[in-house]
Amino acid sequence: MEKKFKRTTVTSALPYANGPVHIGHLAGVYVPADIYVRYLRLKGEDVLFIGGSDEHGVPITIRARKEGVTPQDVVDRYHKLIKDSFEEFGISFDVYGRTTSQVHRETASAFFRTLYDKGEFVEKTSMQYYDEEAHTFLADRYITGECPHCHAEGAYGDQCEKCGTALSPTELINPKSAISGSKPVMRETKHWYLPLDQHEAWLRQWILEEHKEWRNNVYGQCKSWLDMGLQPRAVSRDLDWGIPVPVEGAEGKVLYVWFDAPIGYISNTKELLPDTWEKWWKDPETRLVHFIGKDNIVFHCIVFPAMLKAEGSYILPDNVPANEFLNLEGDKISTSRNWAVWLHEYLRDFPGKQDVLRYVLTANAPETKDNDFTWKDFQARNNNELVAVYGNFVNRALQLTQKYYDGVVPVCGELTDYDRQTLDEFKDVKGKVEELLDAFKFRDAQKEAMNLARIGNKYIADCEPWKVVKTDAERVKTIIYISLQLTANLAIAFEPFLPFSSRKLRGMLNMDSFDWDQLGRTDLLQPGHQLAKPELLFEKIEDDVIEAQIQKLLDTKKANEAASYKAKPIRETIAFEDFQKLDIRVGTVLECTKVPKADKLLCFKIDDGLECRTIVSGISKYYKPEELVGKQVCFIANLPPRKLKGIESQGMILSALNYDDTLSVITVDREVKPGAEVC
Ligand code: 2FM
Ligand code: ZN
Repeated sequence: MEKKFKRTTVTSALPYANGPVHIGHLAGVYVPADIYVRYLRLKGEDVLFIGGSDEHGVPITIRARKEGVTPQDVVDRYHKLIKDSFEEFGISFDVYGRTTSQVHRETASAFFRTLYDKGEFVEKTSMQYYDEEAHTFLADRYITGECPHCHAEGAYGDQCEKCGTALSPTELINPKSAISGSKPVMRETKHWYLPLDQHEAWLRQWILEEHKEWRNNVYGQCKSWLDMGLQPRAVSRDLDWGIPVPVEGAEGKVLYVWFDAPIGYISNTKELLPDTWEKWWKDPETRLVHFIGKDNIVFHCIVFPAMLKAEGSYILPDNVPANEFLNLEGDKISTSRNWAVWLHEYLRDFPGKQDVLRYVLTANAPETKDNDFTWKDFQARNNNELVAVYGNFVNRALQLTQKYYDGVVPVCGELTDYDRQTLDEFKDVKGKVEELLDAFKFRDAQKEAMNLARIGNKYIADCEPWKVVKTDAERVKTIIYISLQLTANLAIAFEPFLPFSSRKLRGMLNMDSFDWDQLGRTDLLQPGHQLAKPELLFEKIEDDVIEAQIQKLLDTKKANEAASYKAKPIRETIAFEDFQKLDIRVGTVLECTKVPKADKLLCFKIDDGLECRTIVSGISKYYKPEELVGKQVCFIANLPPRKLKGIESQGMILSALNYDDTLSVITVDREVKPGAEVC
């Protein structure tokens, strides 16, 4: 039997405050979590939605070092930016805290101390790289060197970004400290470990037997971790940014960021509800749900539960609906390569269109597999679904009410069979949406809500009130009445998904408030009720707007290619005499024309100082013929003549091929006499 809960604690992964948030964050975690929470609230359930910034860890110290500022400066800046972006997108956290807060420091510290006092950790010493110049142990990311697999320079101690192989720092060839540049030495260091191996048995039972309902991707990843056998995990680090390990002999050591971050959920609850936070975390009648991305599964399904269990007084998560990743135009979203749609930039480029992005990200949510966001799909879903289906139906219903009844809800007359059939169809929607939302199937749930608008569109198109009005005024009242009830239902059904549009629609309908239970009812707007002035819910997005976004990404791609371009290795040495055999000259282009029936070829007439020489060159893709006339170009003058498309070519024009397949002919820096030798 399904367990009954009194309340739900919903957490969403705390993003690292080392950069802005992008559509991948929104699609993977925050939009689904927000839909779920809004739905529960609309049902009148007791729910708490926890968010916040993850402000510790090495990525933050690296960013700070790069920018020459303190880690605190970095997290202050990004915490604000991230918090503002979430607010703008209507992510309705009850609290959005930060892991640098005093409450968190105390909570995480006490949590560690409890586990320490209970003997839940094992202490181990190990050898680790130490920077003797900077007097500090080095986190894996702070050690760079040659990759043992692909031999690229600049591989990190935990991963080679070139070939993607996971590494350990000792595998690097010629390791160097990223702090001082010096060669690190091995030194002994002590850390505290959570012995996950000792937790394996109950974790197996709890996940693999008692939570078979978890999403396949989540269950599968847990199973594979468990089947590999769990290992003890260090929960402390040698670092100067974080929460100090609260035991003697731990100077210079802080809690590992993945130990303190999930405790942040608890601290943020405490921050909001200092007196009643415990019921949200310790009462078995509370349901705990973690929304995360797939890279966080092991921490939320294995490590954090083991910590909670070891502490002893906490509940465990009931579900962890993790999403897969969202890609962007076919490529993995990447902060370092600037391959992302940043939320603060979207808000600037598409003001007031938060719901459009929410809609598209849910319609395309990576619930079962990685998915792709493309600007074309974004435009199509806006224009063909939000505008043409939802917006169109609402607009028709409201405009007709305005036109025929001055915006007053008419009385419903006798129902036809078709009316009844339509009403029956939309009564079903509530149950379907509920079932899907309860199962964390947000994509399908939103589809069902949209289906309600499709029912409405079909109804109004089939009934043709604009025609019937000429012959049967009473019948029109019924059609409009039903259409308005459908419209009110849409405002409710879409509230969890598109809160801004629902609010706007509710305003147009003059509805004070609504709740989930009203969904499916056909008397939401009483005859005689005055509606407000209708406005458009959504507007078409034009091609040029989308093209500008695509261009922006193309520019990014170009910049990345330029940044990662590496010249080809130099070919084998040749004898100087061989070089001297080449007769390279400068000539002035007198004429340049396309060669008929040869796409690639241009035919040059060149003054070489002695005569007018013909050269055919395959560079038509890169230049218009007229661009080259008058230029002084370099060419090889002593090659044997060659026939190309029936034209005898007397030499070869030299040019440089760029990394991005652009080409530049070699010219001279100052004008020279035609025939000048290149030496
Ligand atoms: O992957 C991340 O972005 C982590 N900062 C998520 C932490 S989730 C929780 F544990 F706080
Ligand atoms: Zn490599």
